[in-house]
This record gives sequence, C-alpha cells and structure tokens, in this order.
Amino acid sequence: MKPALHTVTSAPALPAYVASGNECALFEHAWRNQLPVLLKGPTGCGKTRFVAHMAARLGLPLHTVACHDDLTAADLTGRYLLQGGDTVWTDGPLTRAVREGGICYLDEVVEARKDVTVVLHPLTDDRRILPLERTGEELAAPKSFMLVVSYNPGYQTLLKALKPSTRQRFVAIEFGFLPAEQEIAVVSAESGLPLDRVRPLVVLAGRLRALKGHDLEEGVSTRLVVYCATLIAAGTPVADAILAGMIEPLTDDADVKAALLDVARAVIG
Ligand SMILES: Nc1ncnc2c1ncn2[C@@H]1O[C@H](COP(=O)(O)OP(=O)(O)OP(=O)(O)O)[C@@H](O)[C@H]1O
Ligand SMILES: [Mg+2]
Repeated sequence: MKPALHTVTSAPALPAYVASGNECALFEHAWRNQLPVLLKGPTGCGKTRFVAHMAARLGLPLHTVACHDDLTAADLTGRYLLQGGDTVWTDGPLTRAVREGGICYLDEVVEARKDVTVVLHPLTDDRRILPLERTGEELAAPKSFMLVVSYNPGYQTLLKALKPSTRQRFVAIEFGFLPAEQEIAVVSAESGLPLDRVRPLVVLAGRLRALKGHDLEEGVSTRLVVYCATLIAAGTPVADAILAGMIEPLTDDADVKAALLDVARAVIG
C-alpha cells in the first residue's frame, strides 16, 4: 500500500499569496462559522499556496494529505501499529487535525477511495464528529478545526466525480489564473526575475492557455511560468528556459510542440 503523503506545518512564516478576489475573506468566514471548504481549479494556480497562507494567517496547524487511488479511510483516521511488541494506536492526519483543532487539507480528494467519504460525511455536516471505529472513540471537532479539500475539475472523469451528497457539504471556491499584472508580480517575486523580463513570459502563458481544449489538455500553470522565470534568473537562455519550463511539460506530441514553439517565437521573438 502506498503511504499517505502527509506533511504537517505548524506556526509557519506567512507564505506569500496574491489574492485574485474575495477568497481570503470567504475562507476566513467559513472557518469562523465551522464550514468546510472545497477549492477547485486547474493545476498550479495557487490552491495549495492559498491554504498554506490562510493556515498561517489564522495561526492554525496544517495537515496536508496528497490523496491517491489507494488512500483509505484508515490512512486518514489512523491504525494500530506494532511498536516493540505492542500494538499502539497511531492517529492519522485527519484525526490529528481534529484533536489539535487545525486544518486538514485533502489535495485531489476525488482520487481517494470511496470509504473515505464515510469519515468525511459526519465531519462535514452539523454533527462535526469523527467516529473512530477501531478505538470506539467519537471525537467532536473543536470550533477551530476545518476541513479543506481540493480537486481539478479538468481531470475529473464521471467515474471519479464527487457525489452530490459529498460536494454539497462544502462551501466551494473556484480558482483560475491571476490577471496578467498580478501574475507578473507573483512570478517576479517567486523567481527573482525583474518584472519587465517576466512580462513577456506571462503574455506567452496567456497565449498558450488560449490553446487549451484545441491542442492542450491543460493550460500552462503559474507554477510552470515560475519555473521558466527561475531558469532564466539562473542564467538559462530564454529560448531554452521556455522550451524546458513551459513547452515540454505541456505535451509529448511533436506537432503540438511545434505549434507551441511557433507561438513562443511570435511572442518572444
Ligand atoms: N496567487 C498566488 N500567490 C502567490 N503565488 C502563487 C499564486 N498562484 C500561484 N502561485 C505560485 O504558483 C505555484 C504553484 O501553486 P500551487 O502549488 O498552490 O498550485 P495548486 O493550485 O495547488 O496546483 P495543483 O492542483 O497542481 O496542486 C506556487 O508555488 C507559487 O509559486
Ligand atoms: Mg496543490
């Protein structure tokens, strides 16, 4: 079984986040009123950064779990493990977040196995309880506990869609790419490349995003623009950085790649 990829952050420095709308206030209102939140949007548009930022801003420990298709309810709640001849109950990340009153963030929640919804449902309605069948406990979530899930609707197949009874338990916030000027500021801050050198990269990203659906499954993410700018800031020639940072990761198809390179040449020269 693949282990749950689980990271814990407590009292971190405030990760930089540029808001594109009212998402920070919405998130805070949801947290203050014990409402779970669902974030949806394309890859690399800032969902994970947003949660890290909000957790730090609200002073909450953050337990992040990257969901995968082997992830079971026990990976989230916990299990008995052998320790020096004894079997000892070990809390999973969801249980720890509930006990601590922190945020549990389930990334790509649609990937998780169906039995996960069994533990999420009583936590995400007005009961706010986490039943731990194996220990016989029933934990009442403290007020500061918050469940946040994210998924990318672009990858979703009908088979993997969240059931309405699950998705209708969350306040949902849609994420998209930032307006150009804000994205330029983000990429420059993240990569150290000056604004005027970032601008053409963001213009190019916009052109490449317009091709989504025709030739590309997914538009170029802000993450990739940051990679590209980071390579350039480190001394990589612009054309090489664009190829490695913004074009190769998007496609394996030679014709599509040639078309993307044409767009890049037209924009960057
Ligand atoms: N609004 C933003 N403010 C600051 N940085 C941002 C913002 N949006 C994107 N970034 C940058 O883009 C990178 C990728 O963002 P992030 O990892 O949050 O994407 P994501 O939406 O969680 O993607 P995925 O769905 O693949 O997990 C961040 O590490 C950060 O450098
Ligand atoms: Mg993410």
